[in-house]
Amino acid sequence: VKVVYVADDGTRNEVDAQPGISLMQTAITQGIDGIVGECGGSAMCATCHVYVDPDWIDRLPPRSDVEEEMLECTVSARKDNSRLSCQITAGPEIDGIVVHMPPEQI
Ligand code: FES
Repeated sequence: VKVVYVADDGTRNEVDAQPGISLMQTAITQGIDGIVGECGGSAMCATCHVYVDPDWIDRLPPRSDVEEEMLECTVSARKDNSRLSCQITAGPEIDGIVVHMPPEQI
């Protein structure tokens, strides 16, 4: 499946993602800059913060309480479409999802 990462400077990177793998992990594996993922995906660091493209945000499952809490700790401003990319799983139902990276993660 496809995931599109858009850097803060507008650079677009479309990558092949493995279904079942988080968008944080996918970014790391594919060498995408702009997602850090310090805690390794346990929703404990907020350095995998992304702004999900408005066209896609409604297609994601709702945030868990833990994700909700961690989003209070992001370095770049939280917005309505803020999510932790380690809590979003690539898969056919979101094939082609577009996420925007914030200016800063740490
Ligand atoms: Fe740490 Fe997502 S990788 S919160």
